[in-house]
Amino acid sequence: MCGIVAYIGQREAYPIVLKGLKRLEYRGYDSAGVALVNGDLKVYKKKGKVAELEEFLSGKDVHSHIAIGHTRWATHGEPSDRNSHPHTSGNGKLAMIHNGIIENYAQLKQELIKKGHVFKSDTDTEVLLHFIEEIQESNKCGLEEALRIALKRVVGAYVIVLVDEDNPDTLIAARKGSPLVIGVGKGEHFLASDASPIVEYTKEVVYVNDYEIAVIKADELILKNISNERQTPYIQKLDIELAAIEKGGFDHFMLKEIFEQPQTIFDSLRGRLDAKKGTLTLGGIREHAEILSQAKRIIIVACGTSWHAGLVAEYMIEELCRIPVEVEYASEFRYRNPVVGEGDVIIAVSQSGETADTLVAIESAKKKGAIILGVCNVVGSSIARISDAGAYTHAGPEIGVASTKAFTAQLAVLCLIGLKVAMEKGSITQQRFQHLLDELDSVSEKVALTLKLNDQIKAIADKYKDARDFLYLGRGYNFPVALEGALKLKEISYIHAEGYPAAEMKHGPIALVDEHLPVVFVATKDSYYEKVVSNIQEIKARKGKVIAVVTEGDVTIPGMADDVIEVPEADELVAPIVSVIPLQLLAYHIGVLKGFDVDKPRNLAKSVTVE
Ligand code: M6R
Repeated sequence: MCGIVAYIGQREAYPIVLKGLKRLEYRGYDSAGVALVNGDLKVYKKKGKVAELEEFLSGKDVHSHIAIGHTRWATHGEPSDRNSHPHTSGNGKLAMIHNGIIENYAQLKQELIKKGHVFKSDTDTEVLLHFIEEIQESNKCGLEEALRIALKRVVGAYVIVLVDEDNPDTLIAARKGSPLVIGVGKGEHFLASDASPIVEYTKEVVYVNDYEIAVIKADELILKNISNERQTPYIQKLDIELAAIEKGGFDHFMLKEIFEQPQTIFDSLRGRLDAKKGTLTLGGIREHAEILSQAKRIIIVACGTSWHAGLVAEYMIEELCRIPVEVEYASEFRYRNPVVGEGDVIIAVSQSGETADTLVAIESAKKKGAIILGVCNVVGSSIARISDAGAYTHAGPEIGVASTKAFTAQLAVLCLIGLKVAMEKGSITQQRFQHLLDELDSVSEKVALTLKLNDQIKAIADKYKDARDFLYLGRGYNFPVALEGALKLKEISYIHAEGYPAAEMKHGPIALVDEHLPVVFVATKDSYYEKVVSNIQEIKARKGKVIAVVTEGDVTIPGMADDVIEVPEADELVAPIVSVIPLQLLAYHIGVLKGFDVDKPRNLAKSVTVE
């Protein structure tokens, strides 16, 4: 989704903003632009990559100590130069960048057209800027006041940053529903959609809250709420290092992140799990563990890969805690008027912690009295902050658009939550508890061993890369893994892939099976194993090509499958953390072999901040 970067201070602003835009490329975008003030306001914007904007600007005078920059992910109006941000006001003195959607823009636009405003783009952003300008002129007030008045009428989500030719020492920003981080330096400030453009300059940041307006000069940061009351900026320390957002010798962020998993899984468990002592501590939910254990039901809301992690958690929590669990697509849950209220616990799972669908879903559930538990990766993110309690996944920044290490860290943390609640509730034996602690304790090592299969998986990828469709099948804990494998393949190789419960396949998708269809089975040794073997037979009987992920030492499936990937044995609760690794690698290699940009797949955004 759109990326925002801005700078004000003593340094040259353009190189900082340009580099920041490159750091935000992973969010997904189709055009880029910058505005700076050097005597007068200058705006440069172009459809395409940040590198194209950079080339377009080479040799031009970009000297300035204030600049705003934007990468746009099109919502209102096609990707084009004129729809790119920054947008300018009618008088050409204001420039604005925006992330989010102004839902009542059409009505505002009609009103403004009647007043003589002329629009150069199809965007909701330009409408909001003209609306601010209209208020400024008709009320004869300053920009900050005009912004405050305008935002009271705006329906929707936004982060906006404004620069004014007449006040080149001030940036004005506002937030509702989309993320904005302000880096506080010595005599300088950095603004961005997330911390990645900021971390190399300062570790001190302020997360702007909803309905706050920031008035930022080089050496001053004033935060106010929408009623014009001063707020005290809460300065926090960033806990990420620059190396975490660079490729570190790998060809792609996605591959780096796949290979980081032994460490990131370990980090998600560190300080929480002590298998030798048989203890489990989850500081973030300590005060809510009892409420959780007494919950009438648990509802997990999430999107995409995080939703798949939620499905695994449903199986885990029901088995360990005997509490009914429902897993909902956040976007559906919010708008179907669900029965939810006191006694319900919502677990919101989100890598970014900024997914708009998930955010609005938990906001509405919270209003109805549910307790919200956040399982997020990005520290200080909106979902983490609105939650009553939670546990961070500690996977570090995930830059590849296709989620990998966040997924396995989510599985590890959700398993810890299940175990914690089960202990609190007394629904698990000490022996099973200890066994699962041991299993979690050794899972990083098993993931490291699985990563050694990279070359073998690359060869399998080469064999099947030209297939038109793929089917991914699994049962029990491996069913969500099959869904995740199919999603990964779709996202980065653009091959149509479907995930299905292996048994459900015979109720429809089996019609697709012929000698051209690769079918990936996640068939590790678990309580469903024998049944899955039968499902493999059903595919082979119809000449489908079977690629099977099996447990090391399996003697049955290798005799039936066309290709076999052997992974270390793990308890079925923990097995998804291991069995998903080959599927991530398979998708990665197919995407690369087909020549696609796997880190920035077409049309996708890393952090989906619109509903
Ligand atoms: O940041 P979140 O975990 O809330 O994001 C949810 C989905 O948008 C995300 O998992 C998406 O499906 C990824 N592209 C999956 O690789």
